[in-house]
Amino acid sequence: MQHPGHSRPAADGFDFSALRRFPDVEAANLFAHDATDELILTGAGGFLAALAATPDAGSVAVVGDRYGALALGAAAIHGLTGLRVHQDALSGELALAANAKRLGLSHSYRSLPLTAELFAGTTVVLWQLPRSLDELEETAALIRAHGAPGVQVVAGGRVKHMALAMNTVLARHFQDVVPGRAWRKSRLLRVVGPRQEAPASDFPRQEFNDALGLWLCAHGATFGGTKLDLGTRFLLEFIPEMRSTAAAIDLGCGNGTIAAALAKARPGLRVCATDQSASAVASAAATAEANGLGDRIAAVRDDALAGFPMASAELVVLNPPFHVGASVHAGIALKLFDAASRVLAPGGELWTVYNRHLDYRPQLEERVGPTQVMGRNPKFSVARSTKN
Ligand SMILES: C[S@@+](CC[C@H](N)C(=O)[O-])C[C@H]1O[C@@H](n2cnc3c(N)ncnc32)[C@H](O)[C@@H]1O
Repeated sequence: MQHPGHSRPAADGFDFSALRRFPDVEAANLFAHDATDELILTGAGGFLAALAATPDAGSVAVVGDRYGALALGAAAIHGLTGLRVHQDALSGELALAANAKRLGLSHSYRSLPLTAELFAGTTVVLWQLPRSLDELEETAALIRAHGAPGVQVVAGGRVKHMALAMNTVLARHFQDVVPGRAWRKSRLLRVVGPRQEAPASDFPRQEFNDALGLWLCAHGATFGGTKLDLGTRFLLEFIPEMRSTAAAIDLGCGNGTIAAALAKARPGLRVCATDQSASAVASAAATAEANGLGDRIAAVRDDALAGFPMASAELVVLNPPFHVGASVHAGIALKLFDAASRVLAPGGELWTVYNRHLDYRPQLEERVGPTQVMGRNPKFSVARSTKN
């Protein structure tokens, strides 16, 4: 495996600065690629070049690509096509598609869910490592079970986000996990030798929540896993006060707790559980099924309700995220308030929970309509906004 020097560009032949994050949040301090992308492409350079010289180019899988730097870098530098790509975030998938179109590389890859097909017979995997150990475990188990016996996994991450526990997880599924040198605060892990004796994947995991009387199911990349979020727990106390409707939206559904609790509390109610995370949508569908609510809960992958008609909903329930990656950023919560405002019909309600110190009331007033804080506990506020 090649190691980049400290001053040498890591992956020649590709202009990373041509990539954009759009439609994800864009800002001066947020970038569409990082040193890990360069390190992975350089580390895998020999394998990719060898594949490009054979008709076997269809056996590369790319996982966790943020905005397309890995897939498009591999395609542009080595002339590869047939790349199989999985990105959990729909915004990442859309950004990859837009970047690919701009660079004339749309033909070089296809996007797939995190299932066996992604890794079937794959010989090289390029992997931006996730921070969540569950997400790491689910992906490692799939590569081990479905990749070629000689699969070369070239993985990398930011040093500050890497922990020894990651090596332990990977070592459950592979015989060798070899760390490389750090370069510009990123590090490679080279992973080989699938362990045939490793246990089968147990995803989606499921756990019964006594407080709710519901099974909660989760794939690896889903926010909070199979646990009930504390803010959500408080928000659900207000279900009896929420507007009486035939249909509701669980916006940013994660494992589908809100959708399942609403459907359980209100027989006949139909709920659309929606999230931009592929893992979350699959988890919400599994939660609905596990509780016998599959006929009334639809799980839909969408970025901030983009596919939902204007003024079509009467009740939206939301526990918004307030982080973008590692940095605190209100951008996504505000984007989701705007989304709810757009799809709510006049008189419709948005119910939101947020950390008390955030005080979103003024933003909710401005973006949705009259907003009342309906309850507070030591950590959270629950607000009801009525669409003007
Ligand atoms: C704080 S979690 C809440 C999850 C779940 N509703 C619960 O109560 O446990 C916020 C969720 O918003 C989702 N999300 C973030 N950005 C989104 C977007 N642009 N469109 C839809 N969902 C989004 C995240 O994937 C995450 O699952």
